[in-house]
Amino acid sequence: MADFERVIGKKPGPLDPAWLAEQSGSYDRTHLDVGTGSGEFIFDLAGETPDLLAIGLDPVSENMATISRKASASVKKGGMPNALFVRGAAEALPGPFAALADEISINYPWGSLMRIIAKPDVEQLRKIIACGKPGTKLSIYLNYDVLKNRDYLDRMGFEDLIDPLDNPDFDSDCQQAGLAPVTHRVMAGDPPFRSKWGRQLIRGSGRQTLIVESHILP
Ligand SMILES: C[S@@+](CC[C@H](N)C(=O)[O-])C[C@H]1O[C@@H](n2cnc3c(N)ncnc32)[C@H](O)[C@@H]1O
Repeated sequence: MADFERVIGKKPGPLDPAWLAEQSGSYDRTHLDVGTGSGEFIFDLAGETPDLLAIGLDPVSENMATISRKASASVKKGGMPNALFVRGAAEALPGPFAALADEISINYPWGSLMRIIAKPDVEQLRKIIACGKPGTKLSIYLNYDVLKNRDYLDRMGFEDLIDPLDNPDFDSDCQQAGLAPVTHRVMAGDPPFRSKWGRQLIRGSGRQTLIVESHILP
């Protein structure tokens, strides 16, 4: 199976790197959302910014089936030609995404993506960073209640993770992966975008999100 496939509806198909580069070149900017889940964030972003190519990447193509089908419809029928959905894992990046993105987002990661970010795993984080260019903005929203809860982390199999704010090496590890010094802040309440997971986890619960932001160094 190819590392990356274009998703339209239930059936992933080939992703031609030359076609992807051409698509990216025909827009002012390109945004890559790693671990996009069911893809609402990318669909909305594409709708709000028609001059931007919005790409959602996730290893679980079935979760992107509905939104990718909706995006592929004609514009008259509510389609979003500047939204693109791709099956693939962060560990296989950058592949055809090398130096393509002007903005990278990672919203409420879980599983191996959570480990890459929260640890951080410098080698794997470099692969995500390789999708950007010097100056590319990286924005990460983390479920902070999970990261603060030792028992929960252990139960979920994240024994190796600690709260990034308690990790004296977090910032320097991010910088080693190619980022400028990171900023972090804790936010309570809804994320300012449509995230199925962010809302399930956060909405109305008083739970917290840890927002980590930086940009890629030359
Ligand atoms: C909690 S969901 C968040 C989905 C979406 N970003 C949102 O805010 O609604 C975490 C997502 O990370 C994806 N994920 C887990 N490991 C990944 C990896 N190694 N590379 C890319 N995505 C991954 C999962 O498939 C899942 O869709």
